[in-house]
Amino acid sequence: MALESETTTGYPLEPSPQQMRDMAEAAVQFLVQFIEDLPESPAADLEGFEEVVGRLREPPPETGGPFDPLLDLVADGAAKGFNTTGPGYLAYIPGGGLYAAAVADFLACGVNRYVNVWNAAPAYAQIEWSVLRWLFDQFSYPVEARGLLTSGGSMANFSAIVSARKALLPEDFLDGMLYASDQTHASVFKAAVLAGFPARSIRTVPTTPELRIDPDALRAMIGEDRAAGRRPFLLVANAGTTNTGAVDPIAELAAVARDEGLWLHVDGAYGGFFQLTERGREMFRGIERSDSITLDPHKGMFLPYGTGALLVRDGARLREAHHLGADYLQDLAAEEEIPNFADYSPELSRDFRGLRVWLPLKLYGFGAFRAALDEKLDLARFLDEGLRETRGFELPWPCEVTVVAFRYRPGTGDPEEFNRRLLDRINASKRVFLSSTMIGGRFVIRACIVSHRTHRDRIEEALDIIRQAARDLDR
Ligand SMILES: Cc1ncc(COP(=O)(O)O)c(C=O)c1O
Repeated sequence: MALESETTTGYPLEPSPQQMRDMAEAAVQFLVQFIEDLPESPAADLEGFEEVVGRLREPPPETGGPFDPLLDLVADGAAKGFNTTGPGYLAYIPGGGLYAAAVADFLACGVNRYVNVWNAAPAYAQIEWSVLRWLFDQFSYPVEARGLLTSGGSMANFSAIVSARKALLPEDFLDGMLYASDQTHASVFKAAVLAGFPARSIRTVPTTPELRIDPDALRAMIGEDRAAGRRPFLLVANAGTTNTGAVDPIAELAAVARDEGLWLHVDGAYGGFFQLTERGREMFRGIERSDSITLDPHKGMFLPYGTGALLVRDGARLREAHHLGADYLQDLAAEEEIPNFADYSPELSRDFRGLRVWLPLKLYGFGAFRAALDEKLDLARFLDEGLRETRGFELPWPCEVTVVAFRYRPGTGDPEEFNRRLLDRINASKRVFLSSTMIGGRFVIRACIVSHRTHRDRIEEALDIIRQAARDLDR
């Protein structure tokens, strides 16, 4: 029986110890049940979402109410839309969301420390710094390397482009030229625009039949631009494209970048963490010679959305592009062994992201992540081979990393229309959820396997569902 003082403080914004425990226990109970139910939950479900959304459209509440009905609303919301946490979610780029990271966020928000300047929370800033150092090690980056945890890959690509611009171009940079393949993620092109480059500065380099950047076309473009008096400064390579998982020839691109004096940025938002595996290291050979790397722990480390990372070989260049002091910050300590991350980032105040990366790494070790990523490589190859062996399926591109991109060639009718209907039919199973893209003007279905919750049983089921859907439609 709780004491009176344990049940209420009389001040609504500061719950009593008992109220805090009750709220957290109810939240944990919901979350554990939610995760336990995931294998049976629909891979995507939008049916009746209007009613759930409708209940949330209301005027601003002037007075509060009890916690439990609000938790019910959160639960109802989780049941609608794409089930990004579940084992059947193979659309776009999955990530999963480790339970340990949710606990880390709960702790981080509760203690609410400021980590962007080291002496405000030295141990927590060190946690972020340790995480970054462990990531540098995976790519053999030197001691001068610096980096930051971002909200995602898009922001990491943005800071990389701004750093390259600042390091290699004058203040008046509009004749600077950057190069990326036509398979590069839109966030790179968006970042270039946000960094102030006009459309003419952005060169989209054609790809080989494997959808890897064409080095000959790249060299020719650089030559043309130099001859026209423009300034080539940045080359972006892909460690796994979003469309098909294609990996650019990074070692060859590193040589081009060296010969031409370009900054080499590798977008490893999707594929970068496969560097933990032997097969990944082989695929990304040369990545250790890059100037910067984007990673997305909310993809390849199965963490919740809001966790990206940028690694920069020469940390001074990252700082040079982002450091701007202010009088009211004069009391804060200068950088020592732990960096002041605010000096390396567009952000001043932000969440303590490092804990959600550090806690799972300390709890399970890099080995557990390596094994899980190796499993995903195996699963993608299993699905790829299964479809290749099935009459009617076309897989024009090699299975690199863990995207399986395919089409079906129907006996009669319009193949584009057929493949659109095929995707709808596969997704109507609600056991798996795939997405599509356009390659060479043609509609392509893709399955991306990067959730820690996706295992062999679900991929076998996916293969059966895809084959059956094609048979049903191709009569
Ligand atoms: C290759 C690649 N780069 C960049 C991004 C953008 O990352 P984010 O969505 O975390 O901003 C993505 C997202 O899917 C991606 O696949």
